[in-house]
Order: sequence, then C-alpha cells, then structure tokens
Amino acid sequence: MTSRTALITGASTGIGAEFARRLGADGLDLVLVARSADKLETLAGEIRAASGVAVTVMARDLGAPNAAAELTADVAAAGLHVDFLLNNAGFGTHGPVAEADPDRLADQIRLNCEVLTELSQRCLPSMIERRSGTIINVASNAAFQPLPLMAVYGATKAYVLSFTEALWHETRGTGVRVLALCPGPTETPFFDVAGEDFARSKRTTAQLIDTTKRALARDQPSVVDGVSNAVLARVGVRLLPKKVALWAAQKVVSPR
Ligand SMILES: NC(=O)c1ccc[n+]([C@@H]2O[C@H](COP(=O)([O-])OP(=O)(O)OC[C@H]3O[C@@H](n4cnc5c(N)ncnc54)[C@H](OP(=O)(O)O)[C@@H]3O)[C@@H](O)[C@H]2O)c1
Repeated sequence: MTSRTALITGASTGIGAEFARRLGADGLDLVLVARSADKLETLAGEIRAASGVAVTVMARDLGAPNAAAELTADVAAAGLHVDFLLNNAGFGTHGPVAEADPDRLADQIRLNCEVLTELSQRCLPSMIERRSGTIINVASNAAFQPLPLMAVYGATKAYVLSFTEALWHETRGTGVRVLALCPGPTETPFFDVAGEDFARSKRTTAQLIDTTKRALARDQPSVVDGVSNAVLARVGVRLLPKKVALWAAQKVVSPR
C-alpha cells in the first residue's frame, strides 16, 4: 500500500496541531506548515514517536509573496504528493475598522482567502487525475453573518465558505472530497492572536475533528461544529431582521 500524505497549514498550534496528531494516528504521512519552526519540530517529534509516520516540517510565512507556489514546489521536490489538504492557517483581528492597522487587515485577507484559494487550486488537478483526495478549508461560524468589530475576519470566512461550497459542487464525481469546516468558538490560541477573549463557552479541537470526520463520511459541502452553533448559523441569523442580527453579532464578539 502506498502511503498517503496530508499537508496541514497552521499546524504549529490549535486546530492544525490537533488535526496533525489525529491524521498521524490514522497513518497519514504529514507535511506541517506554519512560521514557528520550533513548535513544528516538537510536534513532528511527538507524532513520529506516537504514530511512526513520516513527518516533514516546512516552516515559513505563508503571507510572503509566492508562498503558496513555493510550498507546493517544495512538496513536489521532496517527492511527495498531497492526498489531504487542510487549509487551516488563518487569524482574526478585533476592533473597529476605522482604528485598524491597514497592513494587518491586508495580511488577514491574504492568508485567510488568497493563500487558501491558491493552495486549493494547486493541489486539485493532481487529486482529480488520481480520482482521490480531500480538501478541507477552515471557515468559521462567523461566515454566516456580518460581524461588527471583526468585520474583515467575518468577510474572509464568508469567502472561504462560498468558495469551498462551490468547489464541492465542481468536484462532484471526481473522487475528490471537499469540505468547508466551520468551527464555532474553539479552545485554541486564536483569541490571544485576535487580542480579545469574547467567547463564553468554547468547544474542544477533539470535538471539532470528530465533527469533521462525520461530515466527510456524509460528503457534506460544509459543516458547523456543535448543535447550537449550527442552529444559530444556519437558521437563527436568517430569521432575525438584519439590524437585529448585526446588533446580536457585535454583542457576541464584544469583550466580556
Ligand atoms: N479557535 C476558534 O474559535 C476558531 C473559530 C472559527 C474558525 N477558526 C479558524 O481556525 C483556523 C485555525 O485557528 P486556531 O483556532 O487553531 O488558532 P491558532 O492556534 O492561532 O492557529 C493559527 C495557525 O495559523 C498559523 N499561521 C498564522 N499566520 C501564519 C502565516 N502568516 N504563515 C503560516 N502560518 C501562519 C499559526 O502558526 P504560526 O504563528 O507558527 O505561524 C497557527 O499554527 C483559523 O483559520 C481560524 O480562523 C478558529
């Protein structure tokens, strides 16, 4: 049996690191990507010892020019092909747009949307050729309604959801599985990076991965993690008048 390889962006912490552990335990070889080389090397050592799979660390800033092209070229040069792509690297900023650092907003759009799109596009043709592969793009339950105080973040995740659900349909019958994964608030360093800890109850990365596995088995275009998150995202915001939905959304991300 030939080995299968998963490419995970944002693998140094949080959701990406937990996916790496679980996919390694499932027997997939791994390529781990993030900026923090030390964290990736520590995680790689842990997974090799626990699972015996091959783990390659490719530490880099995916926000740098040509990062997606260089990453896929380096993966090919290492003799690997990507069977499973987890487009997970991303971050959010918190606060009114008028007070934001414009460069930080641009970096957010670049990483959350552009890099994710380019990696999906670059990995897809060979998956279709082999009639096998999985692409999971990490969106958010913030994808389902505009999010005052996290306006750019919410918009990037709406993009990820829209792009990925369209891709799911485009790849019907090709043997490639595509999923937009929409976590609600999840216990990770995400809130430290955003500079605000506003979520009152958080789910675990382990719960999120169990949700992902169930959604892949059902071949859904997208999944929201957690029943109450799903009801709110898919039903609740549609029932509310827009002004009320915007007020409620801001309330959710306002500091405690
Ligand atoms: N936690 C939540 O409540 C939540 C909810 C909905 C959606 N999400 C989404 O889930 C994904 C993972 O977030 P998380 O919660 O696991 O937070 P996290 O622990 O902060 O993970 C973010 C990951 O992205 C990497 N990253 C950030 N900027 C990068 C860059 N320029 N180049 C390469 N890698 C970069 C980080 O590693 P380095 O710093 O080492 O580069 C880290 O591994 C994100 O897309 C986030 O929007 C999270």
